Amino acid sequence: MNIIVTGGAGFIGSNFIFYLLSHHPEDRVICLDKLTYAGNLETLAPVMEDPRFRFVRADIAEAEAVDRLFEEEKPDIVVNFAAESHVDRSITDPCIFVRTNVMGTQVLMESCRRHGVRRFHQVSTDEVYGDLPLDRPDLFFTEETPLHTSSPYSASKAGADLLVLAYARTFGLPVSITRCSNNYGPYHFPEKLIPLMISRALADQSLPVYGKGENVRDWLYVEDHCAAIDLVMRLGREGEVYNVGGHNERANIDVVRAILHELKKPESLITYVTDRPGHDRRYAIDPTKIHNELGWLPQTTFEDGIRRTIRWYLDNRPWWEHILAGEYRDYYEKMYANR
Ligand code: NAD
Ligand code: DAU
Repeated sequence: MNIIVTGGAGFIGSNFIFYLLSHHPEDRVICLDKLTYAGNLETLAPVMEDPRFRFVRADIAEAEAVDRLFEEEKPDIVVNFAAESHVDRSITDPCIFVRTNVMGTQVLMESCRRHGVRRFHQVSTDEVYGDLPLDRPDLFFTEETPLHTSSPYSASKAGADLLVLAYARTFGLPVSITRCSNNYGPYHFPEKLIPLMISRALADQSLPVYGKGENVRDWLYVEDHCAAIDLVMRLGREGEVYNVGGHNERANIDVVRAILHELKKPESLITYVTDRPGHDRRYAIDPTKIHNELGWLPQTTFEDGIRRTIRWYLDNRPWWEHILAGEYRDYYEKMYANR
C-alpha cells in the first residue's frame, strides 16, 4: 500500500513512520511535511535512503501542492498528523492553528475525495473533550463525551474532527479518528513538559511548573499510540472515533519529580510560575472501545517508558542540542541545496 503520512517530521509522525517501515515491509511511505519550527528532517535521516520512503516538503493547506502529490502517489491511506500542536503557542498566536489544523485538514480531504483514497485517518486529541474535575477520579472521556474545548489549539482540533465526520456523512469519505492522551518518548520537541524538564534539568536550569503543578495528564508511550493508529487505520470501522490512552494519570509535579529523581538532580530546581490561561485540569481516557473492538492495549508502563525516554535524551544529545541552538533549521537547506 502507498501511505501518505502528513506531519511525519514531527514527534509522533516520525515515530509512526519508523513503526510502519519496520512492521509493514510491504508498504511505501510518503511523508508530507512543511517543516515548521516543529518539523526536523534530522529525525528522518535514518530512513531518507530507504527505497520504500519518500520525503516531500509541502503545506497541507496548499491545495495545489497536496493534489499534485496525490496525483503522483495515488495513496491508499492518508494519515494526518500535521498540525500546530502546542497549546501555549495557540494562546500567543491562534491564527496559524486555524489555518493548518482546520483548513489543512479540509484540503487533504478534498484530495482524498478526488483520488478515491481508501481511508483518511485523522490523528486527534483528548483535548477536544475539554477537562475533568480533579476531585472526580471516577470520570473518564468516552467517545460519547461532548466536545467542549478550552484553548485555540483544542478548538481547532475539534473543528477538524467535526469536518472529518461531516465529510464521512455528506460525501461518504471513508474516515476514522483517534483521540489520544499525552504522548511521551523519543523525538519529543523540547518545548513540551517532559523533554523541556529533562533538557533543563540536565543543564541545572530552573524547571517552570505552571500553577501548583496539580493538573493531571494521562501519559502514553508514543509507540503504543503508533500501534493504535496503525490498527485503526487498517481495521477500525469507517466513520468511527476511537479513544486511545493507557490509564496512566499523573499530576505534573509528580512527573517533574520523577524526572529529577531519575537524573539525580535536586528538587530545588522546581520553580512555580504563573498558570497557563484556561489551563485544563485533568485528562483521563477510557480506552474500552479500542480494546474491545481491536484488542489494543498499551505495552509500556510509565515507569519503564520514562526511564527509556530519559535514556534516549541522554544518548541523543546532539538531536535536542541542535534544536535548542536552532541549527536543525539549516539542515533542510544543507540536505537539499544541490538536489
Ligand atoms: P509536532 O508539533 O511534534 O509535529 C507536527 C508536525 O507537523 C511537524 O513536523 C510540522 O512541521 C508539521 N506541520 C505543521 N504544520 C504543517 C502544515 N501546514 N503542513 C504540513 N506539515 C505541517 O506534533 P506531535 O506532537 O507529533 O503531534 C502530531 C499530531 O498528533 C497532531 O495532530 C496533534 O494534535 C496530535 N496529538 C498529539 C499528542 C501529543 O501528546 N503530542 C497527543 C494526541 C494527539
Ligand atoms: O492531551 C494531548 C495533548 O497533549 C496534545 O493534543 C498536544 O498536542 C500536546 O502538546 C499535549 O498538550 P499539553 O498542553 O497537555 O502538553 P504540554 O507538554 O504543553 O503540558 C503538559 C502539562 O504540563 C500541562 O498541564 C501544562 C504543564 N506545563 C507545561 C509546560 C510546557 C508546565 O507546568 N510547565 C511547562 O513549562
